[in-house]
Amino acid sequence: FLAQIGPDSLLRMILRKSPGQRTGDDLEIIYDELLHIKALAHLSNTVKRELASVVIFESHAKAGTVLFNQGEEGTSWYIIQKGSVNVVIYGKGVVCTLHEGDDFGKLALVTDSPRAASIVLREDNCHFLRVDKEDFNRILRDVEANTVRLKEHEQAVLVLEKSPRSSTLGSIKYTVISGTPEKILEHFLENMRMDIHHNDPDPAVDDFLLMQCVFMPNSQLCPLLMNWSCDDVYVFVFIFNLACTYHAASPPGSEQERLEYALNSKRKAVILALRWANTHTYMLQEDPAAISFLEELYGSITNDSRMLRALKDLVPDVEKIATFHSEESKSSKKKSLIRQFSNGEERLQKKQPIRNHDDILLKVYCSDHTYTTIRVAVAATGREVIGAVADKLGTTDELLLVHLSSAGEKQMLKPNDVSVFSTSSINGRLFSCPRDQLSSLTPLPDQEGPSAGSMSTFELMSSKDLAYQMTMFDWELFSCVHEHELLYHTFGRQSFRRTTANLDLFLRRFNQVQLWVVTEVCLCGQLSKRVQLLKKFIKIAAHCREFKNLNSFFAIIMGMSNPAVSRLSQTWEKLPSKFKKFYAEFENMMDPSRNHRSYRLTVTKLDSPIIPFMPLLLKDMTFTHEGNKTFIDNMVNFEKMRIIANTIRQVRYCRSQPFNPEICQPNKNQAEVRGYVRKLGVIDNQRALTNLSYRLEPRRT
Ligand code: CMP
Repeated sequence: FLAQIGPDSLLRMILRKSPGQRTGDDLEIIYDELLHIKALAHLSNTVKRELASVVIFESHAKAGTVLFNQGEEGTSWYIIQKGSVNVVIYGKGVVCTLHEGDDFGKLALVTDSPRAASIVLREDNCHFLRVDKEDFNRILRDVEANTVRLKEHEQAVLVLEKSPRSSTLGSIKYTVISGTPEKILEHFLENMRMDIHHNDPDPAVDDFLLMQCVFMPNSQLCPLLMNWSCDDVYVFVFIFNLACTYHAASPPGSEQERLEYALNSKRKAVILALRWANTHTYMLQEDPAAISFLEELYGSITNDSRMLRALKDLVPDVEKIATFHSEESKSSKKKSLIRQFSNGEERLQKKQPIRNHDDILLKVYCSDHTYTTIRVAVAATGREVIGAVADKLGTTDELLLVHLSSAGEKQMLKPNDVSVFSTSSINGRLFSCPRDQLSSLTPLPDQEGPSAGSMSTFELMSSKDLAYQMTMFDWELFSCVHEHELLYHTFGRQSFRRTTANLDLFLRRFNQVQLWVVTEVCLCGQLSKRVQLLKKFIKIAAHCREFKNLNSFFAIIMGMSNPAVSRLSQTWEKLPSKFKKFYAEFENMMDPSRNHRSYRLTVTKLDSPIIPFMPLLLKDMTFTHEGNKTFIDNMVNFEKMRIIANTIRQVRYCRSQPFNPEICQPNKNQAEVRGYVRKLGVIDNQRALTNLSYRLEPRRT
């Protein structure tokens, strides 16, 4: 009998038996078969034995048969035993073909999401081995390969990995490891939760939205979102209506399901667009493509909502965002003017971030120390600045643009450098000259900084008031920093052609406060006064910490640990032991060992609002950036994106509560204190500071 029916049909016959009826011999035959299947090669023999008792045979006769549709709930996992199928995605068509030995349908089971594609028979008479969801979960959920790889047209497009935390949560969680930008977007749109309000952060989607500008420009994202939110619904509404007309009753289940799926897709795309707009905030207004996308989205969703009640609730939010940004983008064409913010000229309007298309008045010096003032956009490149200077001077000479530090160090700026003004050193100036004058450039006298300390002014101000006003100022600068500036800084603003002026200003302030401490100490000739100064700075630092202003706190402590200050042993000896103890404790917090563990522990104990130690956060991001590729085989390295997004979220957390100006009841001289802390004159030349220090306390012989 066996010889008559042949091994294949015997196997089929056994596989058709319901699992409960399979004999030991049957199981052995099935097991033998499973040993030779490619899709199972990575599984242990024990697992294969278990599978032998549950796999079910399924065959279909006709090419074109749809095994399941994209958007349906996943109920089984399939292995192709004979024949081939096409994987079809709405809007894309056939993305790949699977053959004998391949498997499909795992994704929906492991991620608990709808089917990511439809499966259509590519030839007549295909045979499948099917494992139903319950069995799949029982046998495979813990042992199944850790990685899911999806391909389209022979190219890997998405790699997911089982996340280590998943099994305790009941369902397996897969996280995106890498993928093409488009496929990652598709994946998130399919897996996005809809039960939450669109303002609630959904961490995975949040990672995507925060980092998207790095790997997928708006010009690529917007059309995709538009497609998701527009196309399919009309087709389905049409089918739906047609079905209603012909059947005169409710349409067959699958159409209803498809309509629902299309509606959901649309809803998710709109929600994602809203979140995207919230992440970009005012930066959207600088991108005409983004504005027209929002306007178009608003138009289309208003239209749809007449027919599709399920979208109605989203309309007001889309309207609000679309009208807000398009009006702002029109009005912000009237550029605001910012003066160069060298010392004492900080006339930033309160809490107004500097934008790329704002104009700035820039002083550019010539070798004879005369200067021209030019007006250029904040994001202007080196080339544009030189052009404006040459214009103003009426020269056709080829000019160089040079940053000259107070110590006389020259740094040539490149034609492609963006926003050249914001990264200059505290007392640095921009110079422009023909190449043959380069060697004769000398710093301006005022670049040296003050020749007398300002202690007599600020010793009359209370340490708490000083710390308070410094904190107010830091908070203003910090709150102007856009999350994207952190990315531009990390990934190189040249490639984005965007300014990081707000971040630069905040970082500059850190340097300024640090140098202020060193300058004041080094300009204080009298030993007893110097001791007073150290005490004052320690008190100010303590108040900064109390106000959770870790940026200025660190700046002060780092100023005090500058060699020009720390070497003044006579001064330190006279410091009362109480202050020594405080200082030692503060210095401990700065200890960089174990990756700044001490600081990090302190911060995690603090509630927002916090002004963080910004240079460290930037270092973290740069470290991640330099140590990891952004693209691997044309796919975005999403793990890297996730790590950097986490750091940005720390910044976000710091600002999640508004700064409360009532933390301190200031004294009457507030205006004076405020004016003082915003105009700290400093010496930024380390050699000059060291020389001063040696003059105060000569080397002991
Ligand atoms: P699932 O989402 O359960 O159902 C459709 C299946 O198609 C999916 O699991 C994958 O197993 C398979 N598939 C193969 N290639 C792709 C692809 N590029 N995108 C989505 N699904 C794919």
